Amino acid sequence: MLKPRLENPNDIRQQIWRELEKACLDRHHAWRTPVMATTSSDDSVSARTVVLRKVDRLNQSLMIFTDQRSLKVREIIKKPKAVFAFWSPRLNWQLRVEVEVSVMKDLTMLNTLWQTVKDSPSTMDYLHAQAPGTALTKATTGQAPATENNQFTVLTAAVIKIDWLELSREGHRRAKITNDTWEWLAP
Ligand SMILES: Cc1cc2nc3c(=O)[nH]c(=O)nc-3n(C[C@H](O)[C@H](O)[C@H](O)COP(=O)(O)O)c2cc1C
Repeated sequence: MLKPRLENPNDIRQQIWRELEKACLDRHHAWRTPVMATTSSDDSVSARTVVLRKVDRLNQSLMIFTDQRSLKVREIIKKPKAVFAFWSPRLNWQLRVEVEVSVMKDLTMLNTLWQTVKDSPSTMDYLHAQAPGTALTKATTGQAPATENNQFTVLTAAVIKIDWLELSREGHRRAKITNDTWEWLAP
């Protein structure tokens, strides 16, 4: 039987954060791999899939892991605004989350987080000799990584506002949500 849909903005807000938290732990959750869009200083736009690693509901922030040489890091250093787009066919919910992103500077925290990926298969993502996007003369999938220098870094995205869209036969609903405001919008 279909669950009755949530009516109270506060319940919807709580459910959004609960699902984001679940997405970090459940590799099958559709919100685990949002698209992150950034702009460069010449106003061109880039978007890419990332893994949602941590969610801090109290501080309203999201965390992703990346290679410090990647384009997205260069872009957010110059222009820290970004948008994460999430879609879940189970929830029938889209989130567009406007954020202000910073590169983690705290070396102790970085090292603690590195320990959580070290020795996992994704370690290799941060040990490639070439920076992401470097032109190659041929595919080098078998190439030995530069094992010494890890390029691991962490981006923390402070949530500014969320555009929530629900697709439903009962009528689509949309809202603009900030930490302390809720505004219903035409879908
Ligand atoms: C399912 C999936 C998950 C990904 N997760 C990450 C991630 O967590 N961090 C990351 O830097 N790149 C991740 N990537 C690779 C990015 O999409 C992108 O190709 C890479 O980061 C280079 O992007 P950039 O040059 O725009 O910085 C993922 C790709 C896919 C398909």
